[in-house]
Amino acid sequence: MDAIYSNLLVIYYSGTGNSKRVSEWIVREAQTRGLKTHMASYHQFNPEDIADFKGKTLVGFFSATHGFNMPHSMLRFLFRFNLLKGSDVFIGNTRAGMKLGKLFLPGLSGIAMYFPALIMLLKGYKIKSMYPVDLPSNWISLHPGLRKKVIESMVEHYEILTKRFASKILDGRKVFLKSFILLPLDLLVAPIAFGYYFVGRYILAKTFIANYNCNDCGLCMEQCPTHSIILQGNRPYWKFTCESCMKCMNYCPQRAIEAAHSMVFVLLFALIVFINPYLSAKVTSFVTLWLYGSRIAFESIYFVVQWSVALALFFIGYKLLHYLMRFPGINKIITYTSLTTWKFWRRYKIPKQNTAQAGKN
Ligand SMILES: Cc1cc2nc3c(=O)[nH]c(=O)nc-3n(C[C@H](O)[C@H](O)[C@H](O)COP(=O)(O)O)c2cc1C
Ligand code: SF4
Ligand code: SF4
Repeated sequence: MDAIYSNLLVIYYSGTGNSKRVSEWIVREAQTRGLKTHMASYHQFNPEDIADFKGKTLVGFFSATHGFNMPHSMLRFLFRFNLLKGSDVFIGNTRAGMKLGKLFLPGLSGIAMYFPALIMLLKGYKIKSMYPVDLPSNWISLHPGLRKKVIESMVEHYEILTKRFASKILDGRKVFLKSFILLPLDLLVAPIAFGYYFVGRYILAKTFIANYNCNDCGLCMEQCPTHSIILQGNRPYWKFTCESCMKCMNYCPQRAIEAAHSMVFVLLFALIVFINPYLSAKVTSFVTLWLYGSRIAFESIYFVVQWSVALALFFIGYKLLHYLMRFPGINKIITYTSLTTWKFWRRYKIPKQNTAQAGKN
């Protein structure tokens, strides 16, 4: 039987290597069938690299899931992608899987595949497949990385499944089942995806700090795909453009990057106990006076005010923290009140990928 495709192009977004590894598995499968292949991270993709593609091309986009959605810069890449118009496309995401005993548990995609699929469909591409892969979670500012044995068995398990998926799509078959199994839950969390996209990701960007072990080696600044770390007062400073891909935190050779848990705790406490009740009372009296006490008006105004104030508070709190951390005593207090500093709080990156390779993520 003649091969359906002559070429395979896979573009990925990967912080800690999961989505890159899945892309490699798919590309390898295509290579064993003799297809011409190209694989690149979204921020390093050069259209000239596929100038010699002739015949039919299958295009794949594989990305980490962030806040039940595809990360912002990958979405922006898709909006701008106009090559190989009309091609067959597959959309995939890696998400936070778990393993309980012998049971492999899935993460939750939300709109991380449906939304990009819609974008590409509207742009004239043919959506052939959508596929999630449940590799270990890398969100280690929230929880410790999984144990090595668990990670290895998950990677082994999903390598087999991904190769099966690759084989099917390269045969020209459509694969959608796994992407729709959790549809009711995906739809349920869709509003959170919007909340994360418009507010959450900016707050998370303001939770990273470099502790006293940082030796200014510059690796995190060099390798951040969104160029979100700058030197301020001779120490790394995280800008709002950080997408919390977790690359810097997991690859820092000094293990110096922490999540500022104590600052987050203090700011959330201030917001919930003092600031939000105050704002709520002010918005209530404004709506009562000017807008006939409308419930919808209250909810809309309060939503905007509450989150704008939260963002401003995190920005100011982070600036202040960054300044205070120049004092060794305060630096130590902030470091030791971060959970990520303790040995039991493991870092995570896909096995068998060193720091130099991470540079190509
Ligand atoms: C900020 C952030 C948000 C995340 N949100 C989700 C999510 O909504 N659903 C999910 O299943 N996994 C979520 N994860 C887990 C990652 O998507 C998952 O570990 C992914 O495989 C990481 O891929 P990478 O190594 O290619 O970056 C999140 C991770 C981070 C850091
Ligand atoms: S990689 Fe680590 S040690 Fe190097 S500059 Fe960044 S935080 Fe500091
Ligand atoms: S600053 Fe770190 S977590 Fe943020 S986008 Fe860059 S590498 Fe990823």
